Formats: sequence, C-alpha cells, structure tokens
Amino acid sequence: MYVCVCNALRERDVKAAARAAGKACPRAAYAQLGAKVKCGQCLPFAREVVSDPSTFA
Ligand code: FES
Repeated sequence: MYVCVCNALRERDVKAAARAAGKACPRAAYAQLGAKVKCGQCLPFAREVVSDPSTFA
C-alpha cells in the first residue's frame, strides 16, 4: 500500500526507512528515502505507520 502518493512511498519502505533512521518520525523516514513532504496529506497515516509496534519489532 502507498503511504505517500506525492513521493510514491510504500508502507514497507517507510517502515524500513524509519528503522534505518532510528526514529518513529515520518519526516526522518522520508529523508532516509531521499524524499521530502510535499502536500502533507500523508502525514497522519505515515505517523501511524512508523508508530506501529511492528515497525521496530
Ligand atoms: S502524499 Fe505525501 S507529501 Fe503528498
């Protein structure tokens, strides 16, 4: 599933990037993927994705 349409970021990639960044932070995860927040519509869902316990399990 896509988390961010503007940057074509998928859920699994955002989770992996949050792990790599060591933070449950959407902006840090996007930066890890070389992306930046554009419209911002994805942020509520992106926060849920990176905050999910399975992300850092
Ligand atoms: S959907 Fe993520 S910045 Fe627009």
